[in-house]
Amino acid sequence: MKFFIDTGITEEIKEAQKRGWVDGVTTNPSLVAKAGKTHEELIKEICEVVEGPVSAEVLSLEAEGMISEGLELAKLGQQVVVKIPMGDEGMIAVRELASKGIKTNVTLVFSALQALLAAKAGASFVSPFVGRLDDIGSTGMVLIEEIRTIYDNYGFDTEILVASVRHPQHILEAALIGADVVTVPYGVLAKLSRHPLTQSGLDQFMKDAQKSIHT
Ligand code: G3P
Repeated sequence: MKFFIDTGITEEIKEAQKRGWVDGVTTNPSLVAKAGKTHEELIKEICEVVEGPVSAEVLSLEAEGMISEGLELAKLGQQVVVKIPMGDEGMIAVRELASKGIKTNVTLVFSALQALLAAKAGASFVSPFVGRLDDIGSTGMVLIEEIRTIYDNYGFDTEILVASVRHPQHILEAALIGADVVTVPYGVLAKLSRHPLTQSGLDQFMKDAQKSIHT
């Protein structure tokens, strides 16, 4: 399973890269705003340090504007994947961009039928937001299971990019289901290597090592 990091903070990307956690990057308008840079500056900066896919989201709400924005974003780097919000206008844009060989990531997906539309439109990635579904008392990972089943039933190439990840359990369940990608905030990635028994075992080894005979 590929790990993308969900951030607009380049320093987080670099720290995660040291640990082998960055197969790609996803951004969105909220993350760009937090970065304190223009969208173009940020995407160019990320493309200078990341070889994998870099998702950059359009702001237009109509297909024509999405397409023209997407064409411009694609010029910022060969890694750029144009992020398009789910909707009728977005599907028109995805089809047009795909016909021009430009990769897309359909975002703000909350149902399996939306994911089916994204695949039929030729999206490279689909971003179902599991955390936001959990936030309203639904079960985000059930959506991932449904999408995995539908995509496998019909052989769609669209990659399932699990997004809105809130904790390590989302990553575990995504891997068990067979999602292609998870996009994860740095703070959640940083939790994955930790386990209380690992720490207590290491502490005990260090304590016992003090007792061993040193030549
Ligand atoms: O960037 C897409 C998605 O991962 C954002 O999720 O719910 O943390 O804003 P959220």
